[in-house]
Amino acid sequence: MKGIILAAGAGTRLYPVSMPISKVLLPVYDKPMVYYPLSNLMMGGIRDILVITNEEDDPKFRKLLGDGSQFGVHIDYLIQYVPKGISDAFIIAEEWIDGDDVALVLGDNIFCGPEMQSLIRSAIEENEGATVFGYRVDDPERFGVVEFDADMNAISIEEKPKKPKSNYAVVGLYFYDGKACGLAKTLVPSDRGELEITDLNIKYMEEGRLKVKLLGDDVRWLDAGTFDSLLEAGNFIKDVQTRTVKNVGCPEEIALKNGFVTKEEVIERISKFKDNSYQIYVKGICGIDTLKTEQSKNGIL
Ligand code: G1P
Repeated sequence: MKGIILAAGAGTRLYPVSMPISKVLLPVYDKPMVYYPLSNLMMGGIRDILVITNEEDDPKFRKLLGDGSQFGVHIDYLIQYVPKGISDAFIIAEEWIDGDDVALVLGDNIFCGPEMQSLIRSAIEENEGATVFGYRVDDPERFGVVEFDADMNAISIEEKPKKPKSNYAVVGLYFYDGKACGLAKTLVPSDRGELEITDLNIKYMEEGRLKVKLLGDDVRWLDAGTFDSLLEAGNFIKDVQTRTVKNVGCPEEIALKNGFVTKEEVIERISKFKDNSYQIYVKGICGIDTLKTEQSKNGIL
């Protein structure tokens, strides 16, 4: 399966903060936001990754992520020139996808929880058409909302309904078989002028091929697209990392765990970073105890 990170939005809800830079490059505590969706794709074992950006931000994403080799993945880039909606990603990327199965993650969606890796892996392994994740919320009218039967088949899915039929929001991480591009091309723009991801999901549902998986209580989903949710996401990640002494959304760690890179390669890459908590953490997972190294340098050990 290939993976797409959609990071093309203008992020107007975060203006003026996101005027000079994509919101997906803004920090969520100690990393750029894009590290979180990138980590989710990598957790699923996905190594062929496409970042779709707008024209202005394209060079900045390239500067940050390069060709992906530092994380043992391959990253390509394509531009969405006109903000035509999420499903437009499949039209832009048709050649790149080349008939493969594909996961799509929205650049501002952050997932955190110990079950996340197994949920993503099972969605990839079991997907036979399209798979979406449902997450219980109190304000479903703000999202795509899904209703499902006992076999976890979607039976209704609506974009920002005034009267939601369930409390399950569809989060911004989707899995599709090779038919997604063909179906995306049959969509018509919604009232807000966009090719809606919900409309693509409806196509799969009409064929009886849209499965729903639920993100349980131990998973936290954050859509970091507003001032409050961006701050909340940063505080949440800081709290989790302080409490568990484990980083969330650290691509170096996932690359190492998945055998995409060697410890030596990771150490070489982070040697360019200043001594900060990110570098110390990554050194730690590579087996370098920074405190001891410093102490021995200073003749304490
Ligand atoms: C988009 C989708 C919506 C989904 C949400 C998740 O909404 O259209 O179905 O629930 O992402 O973040 P938007 O961000 O365009 O409001």
